[in-house]
Amino acid sequence: MPPTSDDNTGHGERGTASVELVAAVPFLLLALAVAAQIALAGQALWSASVAARAGARVVATDVLDAAVRCARANAVVNGVADRVEVLLGDGFAPVRGRVFDLICTSPPQMPTPPDRERADATAAADNGGPDGWALLDRVIAGAPAHLAPGGRLVFTLFGFLGVKAALARLHHVGFEPTILGQETQAFPRIGYERIEHIRALDAEATLPPHGWPATVERYVIQGAWQGTGQGTRTEDPAR
Ligand SMILES: C[S@@+](CC[C@H](N)C(=O)[O-])C[C@H]1O[C@@H](n2cnc3c(N)ncnc32)[C@H](O)[C@@H]1O
Repeated sequence: MPPTSDDNTGHGERGTASVELVAAVPFLLLALAVAAQIALAGQALWSASVAARAGARVVATDVLDAAVRCARANAVVNGVADRVEVLLGDGFAPVRGRVFDLICTSPPQMPTPPDRERADATAAADNGGPDGWALLDRVIAGAPAHLAPGGRLVFTLFGFLGVKAALARLHHVGFEPTILGQETQAFPRIGYERIEHIRALDAEATLPPHGWPATVERYVIQGAWQGTGQGTRTEDPAR
């Protein structure tokens, strides 16, 4: 039997008040504190309020209405509703034509065999397509059009997707890639049901070849945009 974990998903506590989560993302908060305006694709639940509490103006997005409503409530609870704009939609669609200094995301990235695809909210939070990169690749490809010159893209990464692969993907589209942080986390329970699928994708050999892994390395990867932003930074028209 695989080890047990309280966290079925491998990502942050959904719906927990952001004030309790500040300590969980110190490296991220550090990056956010220097940003004038931030987009947080897929990060709607907690990071929006964390960033706004650090003084940033934030646009948070999520494809799920429940996540959007939660992020709005979270901003109110934390007294930052005037600095957090939460939008519903797929990927960068809700911020079309807008440019940011920093884009942060923790997108779904659990490799998902074709017979495990589902359409419910939990799947939306976890499933990253057959190789785990479906959303990450869209974020990396779409970010340059939404970054000001010198802007940064920051995202989380399960180690078994491959740090070298992530850095290479960023470099390929014109980012200067670095690793901002690393943490050893409990192996996500959902990963045990598809462990052989994940092992088959683990090109950088991060997992033990046999048995149940107890932990997974989680990284925060940054890409500094070397090119020119393709849009013009816009303010929230409602402000
Ligand atoms: C790994 S969870 C992160 C949850 C939470 N924001 C956190 O950081 O703890 C990924 C989030 O991305 C959202 N998501 C999934 N597909 C998306 C898409 N195509 N566009 C925008 N958000 C998406 C999910 O609804 C989910 O809230």
